[in-house]
Amino acid sequence: MPDQNSCDVLIIGSGAAGLATALRLSPRLKIHLISKGRLYEGSTRYAQGGVSAVLDPRDSTASHAEDTIQAGAGLCDPEVVRMTVERAPKAIGWLIDEGVQFTRDDVNNNASGYHLTREGGHSHRRIIHAADATGRAIEDTLIARLEETHRIEFFEDHLALDIIREPGRPNGRCVGAYVFDRREHRVKVFRAKAVVLATGGAGKVYLYTSNPDVSTGDGIAMAWRAGCRVGNMEFIQFHPTCLYHPKAKSFLITEAVRGEGGRLLLPDGSRFMHNFDARGELAPRDIVARAIDHEMKRLGADCVYLDISYKSPDFVRQHFPTVYERCLEFGYDMAREPIPVVPAVHYLCGGVVTDTSARTDVEGLYAVGETAFTGLHGANRMASNSLLECLVFGEAAVEHIDSYIDGIPPPPELPEWDESRVTDSDEEVVVAHNWDELRRFMWDYVGIVRTTKRLQRAQHRVELLQREIDEYYGNFRVTNDLIELRNLMLVAALIIESALGRKESRGLHFTADHPDTDTDHPPRNTILGHSPDGAWPTGTTVRQARS
Ligand code: FAD
Ligand code: SIN
Repeated sequence: MPDQNSCDVLIIGSGAAGLATALRLSPRLKIHLISKGRLYEGSTRYAQGGVSAVLDPRDSTASHAEDTIQAGAGLCDPEVVRMTVERAPKAIGWLIDEGVQFTRDDVNNNASGYHLTREGGHSHRRIIHAADATGRAIEDTLIARLEETHRIEFFEDHLALDIIREPGRPNGRCVGAYVFDRREHRVKVFRAKAVVLATGGAGKVYLYTSNPDVSTGDGIAMAWRAGCRVGNMEFIQFHPTCLYHPKAKSFLITEAVRGEGGRLLLPDGSRFMHNFDARGELAPRDIVARAIDHEMKRLGADCVYLDISYKSPDFVRQHFPTVYERCLEFGYDMAREPIPVVPAVHYLCGGVVTDTSARTDVEGLYAVGETAFTGLHGANRMASNSLLECLVFGEAAVEHIDSYIDGIPPPPELPEWDESRVTDSDEEVVVAHNWDELRRFMWDYVGIVRTTKRLQRAQHRVELLQREIDEYYGNFRVTNDLIELRNLMLVAALIIESALGRKESRGLHFTADHPDTDTDHPPRNTILGHSPDGAWPTGTTVRQARS
């Protein structure tokens, strides 16, 4: 029998979702965790603002739920919201127990003892944070715990490329994954009784994004190819304030800057947010990003400005040390002057459809974190609810896995990856070119303001590129870039298809052809599935494994 890795639970991804799931699983289980780069790489590490939870007795979970639902523009699942906000304080307690050092505040009469900041959409201070590098504090702490435990085997530079379902059965359960070892350049088989997708978002579908390079929507693409439904892919969140500088790679300026009083200014120094929403700079993100986009287009401006320099330099440096230092590297002293900002793609509200136990449509396959569509965020995620979702649904997945995995037989021997009909690529340039083209037209045609014509144009382009890449995929040995590009194409196709299907504007989806929200019908989610005969959607190739 070939050398196949085998475990009880395979976790794909090492951000907040993957780590929280892995660390909470019962020690009696054999767990493998793979990550396509270094363990620490992923959106989690770059999270700045914090995690939302009701920690102050003057606040309430009812208020947290209400704010979440209001930001979600009619599409949040109230049951999922309730579950999430009620479990939030315990999730924070778990992080603290694991050793995460959140910023303390013993001065401001807050019973939790921690400093709580504010962000858009929240009607209370309820964001617990570690200065402005919360994600790093969480990621580093959880990785340290993972390394200490010695009970979870982890594999870096391992890129999952497809889910394996039980061979020979029409609705076979998930029994593992094909995984590309980036160091050895070969595809391995990982067998497991349960697989958890914790692969994060898909910001790299767009030209400008706050996301790191690993955010290529792999989990969504794999789940779709395995037969899962995906939901609400049209709701792409643009963060309103990323640093505008050619070398800054859309570096995020945390919303907490606005939470602590930062003002948005036009190039002439005037404020404008109150012309768009009574909550001004602290309106939910969809509103702020659209307002900035509107003003930039109206004035032909390259950017707007964010100003917190009216506060004391000590306050700015103390609250935002990471952002302050990074801005200085680009020549901006935010303690003394306004800084140039633009919106960039930040978060995907949609993803793989799951239930409240993080189960997908395929038995034995779970999805947790940004890759999942749980119903929490609706049409627009409220700030700092994402890390929270990773923690709460990680725990929910663990509860389910722990309760049923003992009854599952060990996965059978699985077919090896078949490379008998492919050769090494002689045209790597095709991958690089198509990658650039995709990201550019997604930015131009599927951005903050959409129209049916632009979406159709994008759809036409993506279909052509998908055909080209599928042919390429069928003929050549897989590489890291090819696997990611194929996934990005599929995710782009799902986003466009979902956007074209929504004939209204709601939350993060704004189309100039239907600028109003449909109030004649009940709000509906966009759920895409496979056709009843099980046919794969056009443009996707399923590589046959050797049987
Ligand atoms: P990630 O943290 O992105 O982790 C995904 C993991 O999967 C990575 O380890 C990656 O390498 C791995 N992976 C991906 N594909 C594969 C594959 N095919 N095979 C193997 N491994 C794979 N949210 C908040 O709530 N509060 C904030 O303050 C906040 N700030 C943010 C700031 C920035 C700059 C960004 C980009 C996001 C921010 N968000 C914030 C959103 C939040 O950080 C993310 O939604 C969250 O971290 C996602 O966690 P995750 O574990 O689902 O994914
Ligand atoms: C931020 O710090 O502005 C990001 C918060 C988030 O995305 O939830």
